[in-house]
Amino acid sequence: MLSKFERYPLTFGPTPIEHLPRLTAHLGGDVLIYAKREDCNSGLAYGGNKLRKLEYIVPDAIASGADTLVTIGGVQSNHTRMVAAVAAKIGMKCRLIQEAWVPHEDAVYDRVGNIMLSRIMGAETQLVDDGFDIGIRESWTKALEDVKAKGGKPYPIPAGASVHKFGGLGFVGFAEEVRAQEAEMGLHFDYIVVCTVTGSTHAGMVVGFAADGRARNVIGIDASCTPAQTKAQVLEIAKNTAELIGARAITAEDIVLNEDYAYPVYGVPSKETVEAIRLSARLEGMITDPVYEGKSMQGMIDLVQKGFFPKGSRVLYAHLGGAPALNGYSYTFRNG
Ligand SMILES: Cc1ncc(COP(=O)(O)O)c(C=O)c1O
Repeated sequence: MLSKFERYPLTFGPTPIEHLPRLTAHLGGDVLIYAKREDCNSGLAYGGNKLRKLEYIVPDAIASGADTLVTIGGVQSNHTRMVAAVAAKIGMKCRLIQEAWVPHEDAVYDRVGNIMLSRIMGAETQLVDDGFDIGIRESWTKALEDVKAKGGKPYPIPAGASVHKFGGLGFVGFAEEVRAQEAEMGLHFDYIVVCTVTGSTHAGMVVGFAADGRARNVIGIDASCTPAQTKAQVLEIAKNTAELIGARAITAEDIVLNEDYAYPVYGVPSKETVEAIRLSARLEGMITDPVYEGKSMQGMIDLVQKGFFPKGSRVLYAHLGGAPALNGYSYTFRNG
């Protein structure tokens, strides 16, 4: 489905799929839980889901003659860290807008984790006092103008590399990779659980899994806490991506987004999210974060406990990365 698109390799190759036997047993053993480790996908600054997307965006950035990648996210954005790493790798400059998306005041929140890594990799980070919004932001368009005014040539990458013409392609590739791994492993996943915020991870999976009738088995767990906007963005990206690659058209019914676990607000973990982070860490040594994967982990655990997945189902948890943000939550985990 993707052979006509140029890809700049940023990852090690197919990501491992592992069974999580102790989490499976803890949850009763009726639903078999596996994880696909997108968090271990690259040597670039701890990796994560943005790299699959950026693999299809980088050729366009290079072809444009740009010298500076310009993108946006929250203060502890994983995406901005990944763009900083890619800029370093391909020899471009990097300008990052880091908005105040999270009402969170850990003492060193703007000094550690993702933002520290971006600064170490040479990106210019600009803190902006605007709240959460996955749409196109004035601060970002101003940064693009500013790079131009200073004689540079910016390449715009929107939040999460999502609303970009090639943003959905990477996770179409994820679905193709899962199909190949299923054939090798001799099994079939009934559901895929994915954390959803800016939308192109989920959207790409929907397009990719639509090819074998599993679009609606991709269970998005919203972590934006603005689910109507997130769902609309997933649908738009999925429709555009399907059209771009010539796959079957995607409709609103293909987008399954569970809104129950994003509370209290984007970037702030609930007590239940923190418990889910501890549980997967203590049973499997698998680290999830308070912003994204902790919420999808909480959602998967709760859905298993509620009997949402029929007995005997195989569930694939897409672990999308994000652990560096934990450094901004040291008070929450001060006692483990
Ligand atoms: C670790 C992690 N998980 C999940 C997501 C959600 O992915 P998307 O923005 O493509 O919906 C992101 C980025 O927003 C992320 O960094």
